[in-house]
Amino acid sequence: MKHLIDPTDLTKEELEEIIDLALDIIDNRGKYSEICKGKKLATLFYEPSTRTRLSFTAAMMELGGNVLGFSDAKNSSVSKGETCADTTKVINCFADIIAMRHFEEGAATVSAMNSGIPVINAGDGSHSHPTQTLTDLLTIKREIGRFDNITIGFCGDLKFGRTVHSLIKALSRYKGIKVVLIAPEQLRLPDYMKQEVCEMNGVPFVEVDTMEEVIGDLDVLYMTRVQKERFLDEDEYDRVKDFFILDKEKLKNARPDMRILHPLPRVNEISTDVDADPRAAYFRQVENGKFVRMALICKLLEWADDPSKNTVLVPKDAVKGKFICRNKRCISNMETGVESIFRPAHDKSGEWRCIYCESKPK
Ligand code: NCD
Repeated sequence: MKHLIDPTDLTKEELEEIIDLALDIIDNRGKYSEICKGKKLATLFYEPSTRTRLSFTAAMMELGGNVLGFSDAKNSSVSKGETCADTTKVINCFADIIAMRHFEEGAATVSAMNSGIPVINAGDGSHSHPTQTLTDLLTIKREIGRFDNITIGFCGDLKFGRTVHSLIKALSRYKGIKVVLIAPEQLRLPDYMKQEVCEMNGVPFVEVDTMEEVIGDLDVLYMTRVQKERFLDEDEYDRVKDFFILDKEKLKNARPDMRILHPLPRVNEISTDVDADPRAAYFRQVENGKFVRMALICKLLEWADDPSKNTVLVPKDAVKGKFICRNKRCISNMETGVESIFRPAHDKSGEWRCIYCESKPK
């Protein structure tokens, strides 16, 4: 079965097929209005969402399909203690494709392991958010015109920001990518991202403390919200929440062809006086999210039963039951019946990584 749990579940070619289809959908809307007639998308949202859930809904409606699901775990059997695995098996009886957002890291992987229909990860804790990445890539394609040779600055919460992790993974497969990490000490990019993704793919990265020192070098400035809901300590959140604010003044040093992206929602990290600047692409980015999700739904339904497209959920060199994940938010520590599985790290460290959330063992 073909799923989308992590951006690397798509080959570069598959990813570009989806982007190209999204571009065709933009140009020829009418052509796709019945393509999913009779198909149902289940949106299983255990965490708040505006854009992601509604863009999935709008996408399926524009394809002529139907949508069912829940937007609050309290309204589902999860509140009675049902596991993600069981909920998935139940939804398999009703729908053709699932989009799941969950606060547990690795939830979409567990869902996919128990599913005979494609599962799309619409965000799992602070781990991954591959459909935001498709949105970001379509935006980069339309605004900048290329994926190679891009200097991209990521600013804000690089530790908990799942959209950052997924976009760096996807871009690391292109040539000439340079990553600039703009974050306070407490919100730096996780080590596994630096080692397994940047270093192993030869993507140069620098870590800086201020936006001002780098803004003039960037093709893309990717702003993010500090992820309040992931902090265990509220004082810690208060210390970092106002660290970076992009305003008109700071933009003076940016290039005229730079683009500002933000997955949204924004809190205060981009001042509203930036919105009218032609470089502010974040509201155009929202609309791209709908088009790219239309393309993704079409492609996953087309690829679902093609064995050559199967998503590898458990790599061949993985080991079962040997370690325990150190991440408290990992589904392997939060739900019963989830077997602990680790794979070798994709770097030279000789370490192991949890297949659900990519953390190290305890
Ligand atoms: C992001 C998310 O949910 O991770 N939002 C989104 O999907 N557009 C970013 C965020 O919540 O800050």
